[in-house]
Amino acid sequence: MRVLSGVQPSGTPHIGNYFGMMKPALELQQQGEAFLFIADYHALTTSPEPSALRERTIELAVDFLACGLNPDKTVFFRQSDVPQVTELTWILNNITTVGLLERAHSYKDKVAKGFIPNNGLFSYPVLMASDILIYQSNIVPVGRDQKQHLEITRDLAVRFNNTYGDIFTIPEGFIQESVAVVPGTDGQKMSKSYNNIIPIFDKEKAIRKTIMNVVTDCKGLEDPKDPDSCNVVALYKLMATPEQLEEMRAKYRAGNYGYGHAKQALFEVLWDYFAPMRKRREELLNNLDFVHAVLRKGAARAREEADKTMELVRRAVGLR
Ligand code: ADP
Ligand code: TRP
Repeated sequence: MRVLSGVQPSGTPHIGNYFGMMKPALELQQQGEAFLFIADYHALTTSPEPSALRERTIELAVDFLACGLNPDKTVFFRQSDVPQVTELTWILNNITTVGLLERAHSYKDKVAKGFIPNNGLFSYPVLMASDILIYQSNIVPVGRDQKQHLEITRDLAVRFNNTYGDIFTIPEGFIQESVAVVPGTDGQKMSKSYNNIIPIFDKEKAIRKTIMNVVTDCKGLEDPKDPDSCNVVALYKLMATPEQLEEMRAKYRAGNYGYGHAKQALFEVLWDYFAPMRKRREELLNNLDFVHAVLRKGAARAREEADKTMELVRRAVGLR
């Protein structure tokens, strides 16, 4: 049973990324050999600065390791360390109709926003299919926004197998519906593009300031408050123990407990929750050789699997 997922290196992780993606991905380590990669080829579709791409890739590796990725359990690697996926992408391109790609929501959304698409963005789902199929993955946990890409992957796998013989495992998407959408400081979905994030690894003062800016209604200190409609409580809930949460809810209902108090409690629980990860991150930043070694080892293991599949694929399509 192979579980595989990929993450784009898109900048400082925030607590929405942590609870929505990193934590669930790390929980997969318990289920057998998991493959997790940093999708740097995919990141190229939005033309990042070369130095920014390089830095974000290593930062993401550091952050995953700091948050508990165990390299003995998870094959952790950089997508571009397995260039075989680009070869498979080329081969799959030839069984992919343009119409199928033109129907991809994420592509259409970007174009609708005025983004001038390059061919890499258009072909993004084919590269993603290659990522999944080259490692003969069974289960692919992804966010809701990736559901259609998973369907395209299955479609291509079936089409390839029907044309050339049974080469690919048909993967199943695992859409984590239970993962709640983490609200940002303004109450919308937390997202870098909305400027409403709480980063997990910022300086103490900066995080405190961000939390003090979380939007609430304007009830006064004495007023009883509704815990169920408050952003501060929604965020607190992610990190507090059930007892701490109950205590806060009771204080809300009783009154004489201001939003400033609640925000202070939120800051404290967040600071404590990420303390061990912060410590580990500092250690890793001082030992980047270790981080590079983890990625190298993961890449070697991933290439082994990719080579096996590619030998079958090349033969099947007549390249050997
Ligand atoms: P951003 O919206 O900040 O650019 P990304 O799109 O890079 O974040 O998201 C990376 C991963 O984190 C995705 O798997 C996504 O589903 C998850 N994620 C991002 N924001 C949230 C959120 N507010 N709540 C839950 N999960 C989130
Ligand atoms: N497209 C995914 C995202 O933006 C990242 C990704 C690339 C991926 N290749 C993958 C996820 C293969 C799962 C499997 O979130």
